Amino acid sequence: MARKDTAAVPVKGSRIMVIGGASLVGSATAEALLARGAAEVTIFDNLSFGGEGNIAHLRGDPRVKVVQGDIVKLHELLRATGGLDGIVHLAAYMTLNFDRDPWGGIDVNIRGVQNVLEACRANRVRKLIFSSSNAVYGYGPGVKGGLVEETPFHAAGAPPAAILYGASKIIGEQLCRDAHRKHGQDYIVLRYSTVYGERQHYRAANALYIVETHDAIRRGERPKVIGDGSETKHFVYVGDLARANCMALESTSTDIAVNTSGPRPVTTLELVTMVAELSGRPDLKPEMVEPDPGKVRLTSGGAFEIVHRAAKEAIGWEPEVEMREGLRRLLAWRDAAAPKPAG
Ligand SMILES: NC(=O)c1ccc[n+]([C@@H]2O[C@H](COP(=O)([O-])OP(=O)(O)OC[C@H]3O[C@@H](n4cnc5c(N)ncnc54)[C@H](O)[C@@H]3O)[C@@H](O)[C@H]2O)c1
Repeated sequence: MARKDTAAVPVKGSRIMVIGGASLVGSATAEALLARGAAEVTIFDNLSFGGEGNIAHLRGDPRVKVVQGDIVKLHELLRATGGLDGIVHLAAYMTLNFDRDPWGGIDVNIRGVQNVLEACRANRVRKLIFSSSNAVYGYGPGVKGGLVEETPFHAAGAPPAAILYGASKIIGEQLCRDAHRKHGQDYIVLRYSTVYGERQHYRAANALYIVETHDAIRRGERPKVIGDGSETKHFVYVGDLARANCMALESTSTDIAVNTSGPRPVTTLELVTMVAELSGRPDLKPEMVEPDPGKVRLTSGGAFEIVHRAAKEAIGWEPEVEMREGLRRLLAWRDAAAPKPAG
């Protein structure tokens, strides 16, 4: 492909913007970009979900700029994106927020992505990294086995909000492809699996297994597992994703979408047991409970794995952090942020 040689944006010395940067993935990505020698890292966020606290540790670096802005407002993006070399676009509504506010999700995940692409074109931003999700494979009984980039979308039998979220990410990916075909915009789509790590929030349905288990254990209660605990989840450590975002910018590849998942999937029982052990309370055995019909739940049709082989081929990325080590880091961060009361 003629443009391939020009698609690399070396992080060192470049000006990069992280849109949706005041959150879980964004704060880790900004940190990784600074460590790789970026000349300037702009965090663009409307602070609707994220917060100042997530970027407080970066504020002392003179290369960090923070812009409070909204991707739904094109003029705000146009003003903020002049002179950039690359953008990592993360701002989005996930399933739980889509459930509460479908219009907000449609605006941010669809119009917002197109606005980011328009701003890239107007200001000649060379490369865009777009955070998609394994939600593009859908949920429900059709989802099982090895999920590769060609796996189709499964909508039957899944909650509407999860399907709206997955469909909005499919549209976002296609808007990127459209901009590449029409205007030569270089981009890489990374399809993240469920993220966990430092600065974890309560907005991702699957990661609730980790944070709610930890909260229960800190109250001295038994953690809950829905069903028999055999359900599969596939997580990825946030630091591994921050590295993937940097590698995607630096890669000569363009016009591709690849899965970025952790080393291997876990069952919910394994996950909850690991959190109890790492919290020093292996005696608090998980309690099997029926699903709460009032809550959005993400299920699959059986064991599955999100295969990340193509990411290795396209951008040289592989996950490095095993789940037990990543969980240890997350729990240490949570304990430091909100120590358990004494006694
Ligand atoms: N967290 C996960 O488990 C997970 C899994 C798969 C994919 N992803 C994708 O990764 C990305 C980042 O995930 P996260 O957990 O860090 O996200 P998040 O929910 O914390 O949101 C990212 C940030 O976007 C900001 N934002 C929202 N609307 C905005 C707007 N209109 N303008 C400007 N900023 C806005 C929020 O304030 C927040 O700081 C998202 O695109 C998400 O869909 C996340």
